[in-house]
Amino acid sequence: MTDKTTDAFSIAQQIQTQINKITPQIAIILGSGLGSLAKQIGAAQVIPYSEIKGFPQTTVSGHKGCLILGKLNGKDVLCLQGRFHLYEGHQPQVIATVIKSLKLLGIKTLIVTNAAGSLRSEIAPGNLMLINDHINLSGQNPLIGPNDDNFGPRFPAMNKAYSPDLIATAHQVAKQENIPLYDGTYLMVLGPNFETAAEIRAFQILGADAVGMSTVPEVISAAYCGMKVLGISAITNYGAGMQNNTPSHEETLEQADKCAANMCRLVSSIIKEI
Ligand code: HPA
Repeated sequence: MTDKTTDAFSIAQQIQTQINKITPQIAIILGSGLGSLAKQIGAAQVIPYSEIKGFPQTTVSGHKGCLILGKLNGKDVLCLQGRFHLYEGHQPQVIATVIKSLKLLGIKTLIVTNAAGSLRSEIAPGNLMLINDHINLSGQNPLIGPNDDNFGPRFPAMNKAYSPDLIATAHQVAKQENIPLYDGTYLMVLGPNFETAAEIRAFQILGADAVGMSTVPEVISAAYCGMKVLGISAITNYGAGMQNNTPSHEETLEQADKCAANMCRLVSSIIKEI
């Protein structure tokens, strides 16, 4: 057993002793500016990350740093309000540790949301994009290091990391709820700088539809642990230079706020169907 595995057990144990009356099998990670979903969680129990020994801390504005446990649309959920980005200086293995602790708590489905830049002119800011695949250009991997076979294999497959069942459910629900929903490939960069115009052109040639600085380490870790994953991007801006534009964090938070109502409605309706 590695130290990181020990951390996952310790984190899971601390959370488990605090959980009241619910047994969540669904976890949701909320991206930049998308924290409002947490407000819809009924009978919520809030555990600040700072109260969990060994749990990493968030440092980015728009990311709060709390676990929220409760009911969303009739289902028990565990929500991470605030995520960990590699550009904050977190080791990628830290993200695997957090996901492993969720696995130990009985989580079977992980829903990840994020803010992302569009790489396609028809996907305007303010829209939602279902992630159907990713390209990991971060140069990092959360699974680096000794493998614990109890969680997953040394060489996990990633070609079905985004659950085809959940993608189908999400599209069906979006149609019922009249929420426009694009489909595409998310490309992860390390950040923290926004891209150059040349990088954006290169990513378009690579076949990516959106770019962002998160999510991929969580998805790799969850797929490795055998969880079903659904990813949704709030499109907050066009990639740098696509419209002669210069993206900013303020713009992404402002636009994420505009996406929040549809994101909340979509996620909560999907949860009902899981
Ligand atoms: N690039 C990288 N990450 C992002 C962007 C972007 O344009 N928008 C939101 N997150």
